[in-house]
Amino acid sequence: MKKLFVKTYGCQMNVYDSERMKDVLWPTGYMPTDALEDADMVILNTCHIREKASEKVFSELGRLRKLKDRAADQQNRQMLIAVAGCVAQAEGDEITRRAPWVDMVVGPQAYHRLPELVAKADPVSRLSVVDTEFPTEVKFDFLPEEAAPRGPAAFLSVQEGCDKFCSFCVVPYTRGAEFSRPAEQVIIEAKRLVKAGTREITLLGQNVNAWHGVSSDGAVWGLGRLIRELAEIDGLSRLRYTTSHPLDMDDDLMRAHRDVPQLMPYLHLPVQAGSDRILKAMNRRHTADDYRRIIDRLRSFNPSLALSGDFIVGFPGETDRDFANTIKLVADIGYASAYSFKYSPRPGTPAAGDDLQIDEKVKGDRLAALQQLLDSQQMAFNKTFEGQKMDVLIDKKGGRVSQVTGRSPFMQSVYLEGGKTNVGQIVTVTVKQSRQHSLLAEIADLPEKVKPEESVA
Ligand code: SAH
Ligand code: SF4
Ligand code: F3S
Repeated sequence: MKKLFVKTYGCQMNVYDSERMKDVLWPTGYMPTDALEDADMVILNTCHIREKASEKVFSELGRLRKLKDRAADQQNRQMLIAVAGCVAQAEGDEITRRAPWVDMVVGPQAYHRLPELVAKADPVSRLSVVDTEFPTEVKFDFLPEEAAPRGPAAFLSVQEGCDKFCSFCVVPYTRGAEFSRPAEQVIIEAKRLVKAGTREITLLGQNVNAWHGVSSDGAVWGLGRLIRELAEIDGLSRLRYTTSHPLDMDDDLMRAHRDVPQLMPYLHLPVQAGSDRILKAMNRRHTADDYRRIIDRLRSFNPSLALSGDFIVGFPGETDRDFANTIKLVADIGYASAYSFKYSPRPGTPAAGDDLQIDEKVKGDRLAALQQLLDSQQMAFNKTFEGQKMDVLIDKKGGRVSQVTGRSPFMQSVYLEGGKTNVGQIVTVTVKQSRQHSLLAEIADLPEKVKPEESVA
């Protein structure tokens, strides 16, 4: 058996893809390892979304070169190095030029062909093999079954690529055109995951709510319908989906938040900015009020729905007044958690060429102000749970012996002291204390039987 080390950057879809790469390489004799130094193959699964993310890859490649040389010189052992993911897709040639010790470059739609690339790679000649085409075949049709269980909470990609072309974003170029997996394929994969012990599935897509898959009888379903069907799977207790675009939030999907108890009351619905002028320049094709209306409607179906979002500050041309509109929108909506970023000009995207780039200092100040508001909203949201009961999915043992961690319906991390629980179990807890990013709780009730040999604490 050879050893494979995969390092993942970027979004949840990369996390999913990394697991799938391990599945693809497993039948060829590569076993996953956590020890980088012993690896016979290292894959960096990369992210191109902001400049910092892609620069990280080049510094990591510098470190890997030393490890590779040491393995060759001191142990007479070859270490294959592969770059996968969105930087591979966007900068394949740049990678082989700046880091000629890289053996393989493979794009996000071509990693099912990794075994062929490995066969072609020749670490002695130091010629890199590059596969960054968007293949005519669909990779999902060639991925083998999962080589290992995914644990209590797993990702499942149902949609990939993006046709929206927001003017700041590289994703349409790195992931290609929108594609939806057929419903049956998704259902089969979900059933396999559940059989292997998964209790919560997060459906993934760059625009997951743009999913439109063919069902086995030829009809085309939307995401709402898919969620209803998946909810029928015995043992699948929780469903989520991410990331959504406001324009694709149809009524059937919104109603699923009322009708499907397994669909968790937490939605990541990025708006990016609160100024219509900036939204237009971003090519988002919706206004701030469109977004407010969507949220109102979602809340009318499910008043307990908690929201999360993404924000960009310092987009070219953003004035203080535009930024004030973002603050206003955040104040109006009230987020349970959110991600915010300074605008990062990305090569090849329309906004990068805009003359009205914003000063880094201004971006920094705006980011700090926005994050302060978002943090206070998160703190207030978490506080509402003090003294309340909630169901928590135990997903791993915590740092201390007597501690386990789990996740709440609203995606909060929950730390549990004492009590006997199994990883994968859903338990009712009482929240004792809230923090910025987590909750501390005690077990209130054990609805399921505990297997003593697996219990923690
Ligand atoms: N498909 C999702 C998210 C894609 S990328 C959507 O449409 O919302 C995740 C987040 O990164 C984006 O929501 C955006 O907030 C941020 N982002 C993307 N490009 C960026 C850039 N050039 N600079 C800063 N943030 C960016
Ligand atoms: Fe990027 Fe916009 Fe597509 Fe999201 S919708 S992936 S932000 S282009
Ligand atoms: Fe990054 Fe690609 Fe995901 S650019 S955010 S890894 S789609």
